[in-house]
Amino acid sequence: MSVRDDCPGNAVNRPADDTRGRLYARVDLWPVCGSLAVLDEAFNAEWMAMSGAAPSTPSRSVVLVGLMGAGKSNIGRRLANRLHLPFVDADSEIEAAAGTTIEEIFERHGEAYFRDGERRVIARLLDGPVHVLATGGGAFMDAQTRARIRQRGISVWLRADIELLLARVARRDNRPLLKDGDRRAILTELIEKRHPIYAEADIVVDSIDGPPELTLNRLISELQRFRANEPPIVPDASTSRAAE
Ligand code: S3P
Repeated sequence: MSVRDDCPGNAVNRPADDTRGRLYARVDLWPVCGSLAVLDEAFNAEWMAMSGAAPSTPSRSVVLVGLMGAGKSNIGRRLANRLHLPFVDADSEIEAAAGTTIEEIFERHGEAYFRDGERRVIARLLDGPVHVLATGGGAFMDAQTRARIRQRGISVWLRADIELLLARVARRDNRPLLKDGDRRAILTELIEKRHPIYAEADIVVDSIDGPPELTLNRLISELQRFRANEPPIVPDASTSRAAE
């Protein structure tokens, strides 16, 4: 596929008064269109989406965190697809490991038991091959899980406001934490408690009320920006000795 034909900087694809369009409309920039990460992250992601070019695959798992209804599974699945990585949903893995639903685990054994299983399952997943992982809303609140994610992955907080969360959680009624009581009050309390912790994530992306591709493109460009600024991986002493 010719870059020139697909480059959104092409005057056919961009209004003339668009700054990014003008920039990319410069013929001498066309050959690098899509790789100018530093110049314009969002545009770069947009161009890649249009042209079918894939962003480079990260060397660590990408871990989505955030409240119930933030869109972690939906965006995570799309992100995995774009990055050509497997997608794993931590809640589904917990259910598979327990042989029952999260609802039932909460009912029969209580939240502490669920959290223990959640911590172990996520640790196992992070020890495996690189993938995109959607975690349950409470997972990142666990200090051990947070440390593990920091060590093995790149964390992304999908931030959403209360109205969006309420609209999204209304689609399912099997979330144990939302069963007893007023959803708005419960989510407001969780926002107060959890948002300061989610804010420790490597990347923060607003989950918007609109086409998921918009949130996804934003996420991909933030991910590229984060990776561009990451210090190179220095092998630790034991690894270097083993290699000698
Ligand atoms: C929970 C969120 C749920 C699930 C469990 C507890 C939470 O996952 O792990 O019901 O503590 O916020 P989702 O965030 O995928 O709904």
